[in-house]
Amino acid sequence: MSNISVQLPKYEILDEETNFDFIFKIIIIGDSCVGKSCLTLRACRNEFESCYTSTVGYDFFKMDIKIHDKKINLQIWDTCGQEKFRSLISNFYRNSSLAIIVYSIDNQNSYNNIGEWLNEIRKLTNPDIKIFLIGNKSDLVNLRKISKEKAKFFCDENGIDYFTETSAKSGENVEITFVYAAYLLMKESIKQNNKNIRNVSEDRTNSHISFNFVEDEPSNLILDGSSTNDKSKCCLS
Ligand code: GTP
Repeated sequence: MSNISVQLPKYEILDEETNFDFIFKIIIIGDSCVGKSCLTLRACRNEFESCYTSTVGYDFFKMDIKIHDKKINLQIWDTCGQEKFRSLISNFYRNSSLAIIVYSIDNQNSYNNIGEWLNEIRKLTNPDIKIFLIGNKSDLVNLRKISKEKAKFFCDENGIDYFTETSAKSGENVEITFVYAAYLLMKESIKQNNKNIRNVSEDRTNSHISFNFVEDEPSNLILDGSSTNDKSKCCLS
């Protein structure tokens, strides 16, 4: 995985929005105690919880972001990592646009189990789903067990779309990771939409029915000089 730095477009975190141009479902998975709930809490409410309370089943959060003039609603499902709830959370994989697998950089087992989480995703979701890998607790520098390079190599080998390290405690990389998720999903959605419109257009042309395809709005959504244009694989660092 090449180490491309992501230049995000201008964005704004929204409060109390109701009308959205895009709604995406994101599922957060990974072993117990890696910081999934804390990451979600930091992204959605800018809070940190230092006491550990295991999630029972799942929690639902939302994050609303404006990128250019488009309003995006991220529906974030924070799941529990405990084995006994696995069959329950498998129901939540459906219709997800993005799965974020979280491990903790100080916890070797949580890293070793990424393969299992990947298998779950591939078994239970659609093939187009985007997959991010996050190494959380990057503030625990002296306890680090997993190097960034090792994790990046794993991502290259396993077709993971994006990797970064975060700290839910300090907030490092948290907001921008979710903003990047929104940006990537919006771009994909626009691309897919254009393809569908084109297909309809071609079908109609073939049957000699005139159809005016207006590509104007989506193709104007070129996001500020991002080096990630059409490259879904990248790293923030
Ligand atoms: P389950 O609900 O059991 O699946 O756990 P989880 O992955 O949601 O973990 P949770 O967010 O509850 O965090 C577990 C513990 O790690 C808590 O004590 C947090 O305070 C701590 N923690 C979470 N993120 C960080 C971080 O970035 N840095 C540090 N130092 N601690 C963190």
